[in-house]
Amino acid sequence: MKVLVIGSGAREHALVRALAADPAVDAVVAAPGNPGIDAIALCRELPAGPEDGAGIAALAQEVGADLVVIGPEAPLVAGAADAVRAAGIDCFGPTAEAARLEGSKAFAKEVMAAADVPTSLSRVCTSLDQVADALDAFGAPHVVKDDGLAGGKGVVVTDERARALAHAAHCLAGPGSTVVVEEFLDGPEVSLFCLTDGTTVVPLAPAQDFKRVGDGDEGPNTGGMGAYSPLDWVPEGLTQHVVDRIAQPTIDEMRRRGTPFAGVLYVGLAITARGPQVVEFNARFGDPETQVVLARLLTPLGVVLQATARGALAEVPPLRWREQHAVTVVVAAKGYPQSPRTGGRIHGLDEVGDDAYVLHAGTARAKDGAIVSAGGRVLSVVALGDDLEQARHRAYAAVDRIELDGSHHRTDIALAAQRGEVAVAG
Ligand code: GLY
Repeated sequence: MKVLVIGSGAREHALVRALAADPAVDAVVAAPGNPGIDAIALCRELPAGPEDGAGIAALAQEVGADLVVIGPEAPLVAGAADAVRAAGIDCFGPTAEAARLEGSKAFAKEVMAAADVPTSLSRVCTSLDQVADALDAFGAPHVVKDDGLAGGKGVVVTDERARALAHAAHCLAGPGSTVVVEEFLDGPEVSLFCLTDGTTVVPLAPAQDFKRVGDGDEGPNTGGMGAYSPLDWVPEGLTQHVVDRIAQPTIDEMRRRGTPFAGVLYVGLAITARGPQVVEFNARFGDPETQVVLARLLTPLGVVLQATARGALAEVPPLRWREQHAVTVVVAAKGYPQSPRTGGRIHGLDEVGDDAYVLHAGTARAKDGAIVSAGGRVLSVVALGDDLEQARHRAYAAVDRIELDGSHHRTDIALAAQRGEVAVAG
């Protein structure tokens, strides 16, 4: 099978790496890819960008792809998977209609209500007066979400009412804009990716992401600064509970509406005193959680994604996992997330040793062949270990060998879990 992967981040590098290791996959093409992906797969341009469904479908036909895997949310919400399927090619990723589970927070809340899925109280607001009322009703910490896709900048969680109002005002500035104000969910967060062909749901291993830029969860939100899996601290039976109470009812509700969701439903959860509650749905794999989840997956990925795309997930044998723990640490550019500096030379990529590997995200190749920074999150360094302590040690030893002037990373990825300090209420 030949697979075309759309995207250019470390998530896509992890997907390409896992697909290339599948004996059933003869070749992997990535578009646009990145210099790390280029070392293991053919990279092709997408002249009109990754949201151009017709361009993706044309490229898939040109390279003879049997399966297209769409990594980021924007092409999915723009209908890229529809365009690929219309060209008669299997596609891993939901239709534009189904991707509204990520593309509109208000729509996701509506589906959750219809499916009786546990989530926070919320109000959909189209004016600042409505926002002010909702902030007062729910109290601090305030949670204000742009209804639509905002490239990771749509959610603000703050104790400061003025900041919550300012964010809402910013989101509401465009015509026809909507924000969702939510009750804050208190408890450690878990990301659970559920593969689904629209009927059957198969969960992957849970992971935890670190969204704030600084140690101790200080500073602004980012796209994710690190992750680890498995989560030894989650209540027993959590994964099955989330499938039974959240993922399966959501997938059943989407099918009932005539807009079946097939691909990966990313269930973002808070483990609260009232049990697991949905913080958000996404219509794609998470980044950087995918880097650790796929590091542990033993089952060849291509066959599973193809079965998902073909409506045959029920026929896939139970997934097999490494017992080991995986940790990824994101190396970010100076100034990230506010104003990342690009163009810095990266040294040491070949010196990380055999105990870790580097996935590229915001990198580019300079004219002289050197790898330089080209985005905010530059690299994801991944390591496996027999326990979290060993996986962390290996990941951080590799990070220490990489040089990028002014770069920064969190030093506490998976540390609380390693110390047994992640507390679940109740
Ligand atoms: N890890 C957060 C995200 O992928 O949205």
